[in-house]
Amino acid sequence: MKILIIGGTQFIGIAQVEIALARGHEVTIFNRGKTNADMFPQVEKLIGDRDGNLEALKGRRWDVVIDNCGYVPRIVKQSAELLADAVDRYIFISTISVFADLTKPGIDENSPLAKLEDETTEVYMSEAYGGLKVLCEKVVEEAVPGRTLIIRPGLIVGPNDPTNRFTYWPARIADSSRKEVLAPDSPEVGSQVIDARDLGAFTIKMAEEKATGIYNATGPDYRLTLGKIFDTSKEITGSDVNFTWVSEEFLLENKIEPFSQMPLWVPRAMAGFDKVNVSKAINAGLTFRPLEETIRDTLAFEAERHAKAGEDDPQLKRAGLSPEREAELLAAWHAKN
Ligand SMILES: NC(=O)c1ccc[n+]([C@@H]2O[C@H](COP(=O)([O-])OP(=O)(O)OC[C@H]3O[C@@H](n4cnc5c(N)ncnc54)[C@H](OP(=O)(O)O)[C@@H]3O)[C@@H](O)[C@H]2O)c1
Repeated sequence: MKILIIGGTQFIGIAQVEIALARGHEVTIFNRGKTNADMFPQVEKLIGDRDGNLEALKGRRWDVVIDNCGYVPRIVKQSAELLADAVDRYIFISTISVFADLTKPGIDENSPLAKLEDETTEVYMSEAYGGLKVLCEKVVEEAVPGRTLIIRPGLIVGPNDPTNRFTYWPARIADSSRKEVLAPDSPEVGSQVIDARDLGAFTIKMAEEKATGIYNATGPDYRLTLGKIFDTSKEITGSDVNFTWVSEEFLLENKIEPFSQMPLWVPRAMAGFDKVNVSKAINAGLTFRPLEETIRDTLAFEAERHAKAGEDDPQLKRAGLSPEREAELLAAWHAKN
């Protein structure tokens, strides 16, 4: 197939390009040439900007486009309308944050979607993120009717993750110089995640099968818990850290943000977030690599990034607690308990 990838040089795009090339497809990537510009010298690169400069895409044809970096409907509309007659199918990478109510378990593809009060907002790194993705999905479905595939991933993890959310935990656990690790709530807290490479393989497989429709895509196919992720990280790294599980009340009192400051912590009020129904995607062929492999490869990626960028790389310290904040919180917890 001839595949156009909008994005392609970061995280999920990197996995898609690698898998597509390995499967013999012809890949073109379109981006601004800012992120990892030297990556994939063997791949055709079209430079532009999805907001206002799509010149490089004009007059071309592909079997399928994979749109990775669409967050604002006004902007997604530009590529969806331009490419409607230039591709057979349009794959849009959305998110499970599109759902209106993440408090209840068992959300499936037909569950109600979030609505925004202000549909003109473009501030997508905010509470509007899910509602804006709903509108992006709609724009794509309107521009390319009957030929769209919407994939809604949960938390994406693994090598090349720029957010440090999953990475925080294996990296923190590997650091035996700080023996006591602050852990959220309980080892029984559930966690749904998908390795970017499993998501990439599913996306390319669905592209090959000319699939259309909507699929939630997270995992794995068993109930994964924080306890399992932490213990597996401990085994793999040979670390001798101990976990101090602090209560949800304590985290909330101290205004610790789930996802960003305390990655993988799903507050009890959001009980649906780690229990999304993914049986439709599994029946369509979504598979999951072992957790051990994701942790090992994430640690290898993190070590390589540290070696290249040094301690001062701002990318290295995104999600998670700083050592100082973690120590402060542990002291406060012990003073009370
Ligand atoms: N991370 C998660 O846990 C998670 C969970 C659920 C869903 N998702 C979804 O997964 C996707 C995130 O993917 P990601 O983190 O790999 O990448 P991303 O940040 O959305 O996109 C980065 C890629 O897009 C290109 N790009 C950015 N702005 C562009 C523009 N204006 N015009 C053309 N290209 C542009 C970048 O290259 P240049 O900078 O060179 O342009 C880069 O190749 C999103 O759709 C997100 O909603 C993520």
